[in-house]
Amino acid sequence: MTSTSSKPTRDLLFPELSDSIEERIAWFQQMQKNEPLRFRPEYNLWEVFRYEDVSHVLKNPDTFSVTNKTHMGLPFSFGRADIPEHRFLRGFVARSFVPGNIESRAPEFTSMVDSLLAPALASGRMETLGELCFPLMERVIGDMFGLRITGAGRFREWSDQMFGQLIGVRSPDHADVVDLFTEQLNERKRKPSDDLMSVLLAERSKDGRLAEEKIVHMCLDLATAGNAPLSLMLAYAIARFCLDPELYQTLRRDPSLIPGAIEEILRYDFSWFNLWRTARNDTVLGGHEIKAGQYVVVWDSAANFDETYFPHAERFDIRRSPNPHLTFGQGMYICLGLPLVRVLGRIVLERLVATFSDIRFDAEKPMRSLDQMKDYIVSLDVVLTPSNAAVS
Ligand code: HEM
Repeated sequence: MTSTSSKPTRDLLFPELSDSIEERIAWFQQMQKNEPLRFRPEYNLWEVFRYEDVSHVLKNPDTFSVTNKTHMGLPFSFGRADIPEHRFLRGFVARSFVPGNIESRAPEFTSMVDSLLAPALASGRMETLGELCFPLMERVIGDMFGLRITGAGRFREWSDQMFGQLIGVRSPDHADVVDLFTEQLNERKRKPSDDLMSVLLAERSKDGRLAEEKIVHMCLDLATAGNAPLSLMLAYAIARFCLDPELYQTLRRDPSLIPGAIEEILRYDFSWFNLWRTARNDTVLGGHEIKAGQYVVVWDSAANFDETYFPHAERFDIRRSPNPHLTFGQGMYICLGLPLVRVLGRIVLERLVATFSDIRFDAEKPMRSLDQMKDYIVSLDVVLTPSNAAVS
């Protein structure tokens, strides 16, 4: 038994989360009906299941603080800064993520995707995460942030490490990546460029509010935290195509359905996501009194199956509209990478359906996931038929 003062880790919440999506949905909906707010005294922790309550917590950072929300163990993490520091920091980087700016890079992203699909076009085989998703993110992030990444597999290892820390399936071990970013910061000090790190360094010199340590951690957060979930999202899409060839053919016939398919994958396949907050002061939520200092875990994944907002929530429906899922969070901490996820996701799927007429699991190499977490796909080998190949 853990003492009340110890910090709960995410895996302590997993036992009730079945590996089967159907059973998860049933559990979420049962909690929404019978116990929409549940207190776990052993961890001094509230769990929140209904859409309305989840949304209330996310939209009220004055009451529900983001500090302590993660297990990253980093001295500073961008998404953990409270207001007003958060507003100050987000303001600096938000420019790079404006939807228009991201959309204007679509031609570059398309050629990156095409070059990564080229070997699969020749061989008819691909390991999705290692040959498409992470290399794509390495190029995109390297390009956007001016990061120089050396060493095969290093980028993926950092991304896995940082996201693993964030969701509590890996112990903090980030000295290597902090050193590398610090090294790059020192290079920018000697030789400024026009990338994000240099812009932040210039701001630091203006009024000294932006300490170097913060710049390093902020860039590190931006450059690593989103890669694993975006790669997973693409892997979920590709695994779905293998399981449901008709879905793939539908998107081939009508690629304008791709954005809706991405939203539904975000709603449905991230059914293991939750977000952490700490109550700043005593407050009342859903008729329950929450005390200052108590942890509040909002199950945004459960909210995504709340029938009040998603009729026939158990149905995977790429034409669902509206689809107000909470997989990116909500309110002032909403995912900054959201426009990038939507644009890159769309481009990858558009190029995939345009290039290959068929996609299947590679029977010789079964999909692998993390032992501690089945949803965290580690490898996904597929066999692909080029669009212009003769059908056998
Ligand atoms: C499918 C992919 C992704 C998912 C599901 C996702 C999900 C989320 C969620 C739920 C939050 C809010 C956390 C909270 O409220 O506690 C968040 C925040 C954030 N995400 Fe993402 N994310 C994704 C990809 C990305 C990418 C690609 C990037 C950057 C390149 C990124 C950068 C960020 C940043 C910087 C924050 C903190 C925002 C802030 O505190 O103001 N994310 N993300």
